[in-house]
Amino acid sequence: MTAYAHITGWGKAIPERVLTNRDLQRIVDTNDEWIVARTGIRERHIAADYQTTASLAVDASLKALEVASLKPAAVELIIVSTSSPEHLFPATACLVQDRIGAKSAGAFDLLAACSGFIYALNMATQAIRSGSVQNALVIGSETLSRLVNWTDRNTCILFGDGAGAFVLQASETPAGVLSAIMRSDGSGGELLAIPAGGSRYPTSLETINDGLHYIKMNGREVFRFATRVMAQATQEVVEKANLTMKDIQLIVPHQANLRIIETAMRNLEFPMDNCIINLDRYGNTSTASIPIATCEAIQDGRLKPGDRIVFVGFGAGLTWGAAVVEWSGPFPGLHKFRPARYRLYFRFRSFLRRVWRHIEAIIWGRHNPSI
Ligand code: ACO
Repeated sequence: MTAYAHITGWGKAIPERVLTNRDLQRIVDTNDEWIVARTGIRERHIAADYQTTASLAVDASLKALEVASLKPAAVELIIVSTSSPEHLFPATACLVQDRIGAKSAGAFDLLAACSGFIYALNMATQAIRSGSVQNALVIGSETLSRLVNWTDRNTCILFGDGAGAFVLQASETPAGVLSAIMRSDGSGGELLAIPAGGSRYPTSLETINDGLHYIKMNGREVFRFATRVMAQATQEVVEKANLTMKDIQLIVPHQANLRIIETAMRNLEFPMDNCIINLDRYGNTSTASIPIATCEAIQDGRLKPGDRIVFVGFGAGLTWGAAVVEWSGPFPGLHKFRPARYRLYFRFRSFLRRVWRHIEAIIWGRHNPSI
């Protein structure tokens, strides 16, 4: 029996604070006209001090679980794709698992930069198709504003914060994720990187003085790479699904630069009207850009059950990837469940587990005086 991975829930979390191009003019030597002409971006959202990659991921996930009417306790797999994890470890996915009370879930982070959401979607799909799990929560979440150098006009104008999440569930009905491809070319790794803070260049006074803990980018080279792979990957993944571009109603591309998207759509001879664009209001939210744009397409009535759509993205690594999805929506006839109402309960559960761990440590310590 073949299991198909349907997308049955979706949600997004956008920080309230907006940073416009004019605001940026006061920070670095740039201007609104340049940013709009070269990127299409007009404003982006910046996380408040109390918001983190995990907290945005939790907000988006609870909304996605509500749409799917899936109880957090029933979630079997959580994958957080992020370029701005809270720590090297523990995984941000584990923080999310704890805060939504997903007590039966395995959880891990996936790092493939801006292509990460497509990679994560594909990994979750394969886990469902193999019968390993019945459902998965796939999240793209970012607070890249904390990793950009706010004095570097080449990069600080591009990025924004936010999160988006999908719930995937197994079904025997043929639909959901129909095909996916993942590609990489590590020879271009240095074109877009955060050089320090890992094991290669551990954080030191020197790495900080040299600003190696910030995003470094060769914009022109990344641009050239992106315009080449976006159309190529779309064509490849559509063929893999045994479809043609005529069968595709909508494309949701990674929202990095309007010129990159326009070039790709021109190469594909695909109408821009059928391509979702929201980078003017969010900037590049990295792994979150595709699920956020999808949520907006649904809200605006542009994405309906039965539509076939392509997700396509590229990012640091270098990585790129694409997926074809036949949109289905939540499974019918489910009891409505509002997981956001249980936030306090999930926190209390986490608190009790911590307390219990302390008690266990005391008991364990007494019996093992050597420890
Ligand atoms: N404001 C004003 N002038 C600027 C700015 C700015 N913010 N930034 C650069 N310039 C200047 C440059 O200094 C340069 O001046 P010069 O000719 O006197 O040297 C001039 O503008 C042109 O610079 P370019 O870098 O050639 O500009 P380009 O048209 O390539 O646009 C941009 C730059 C927007 C960064 C573009 O290259 C781009 O979008 N690249 C792709 C980046 C991307 O998508 N990154 C995300 C990848 S996804 C991930 O994994 C996170």
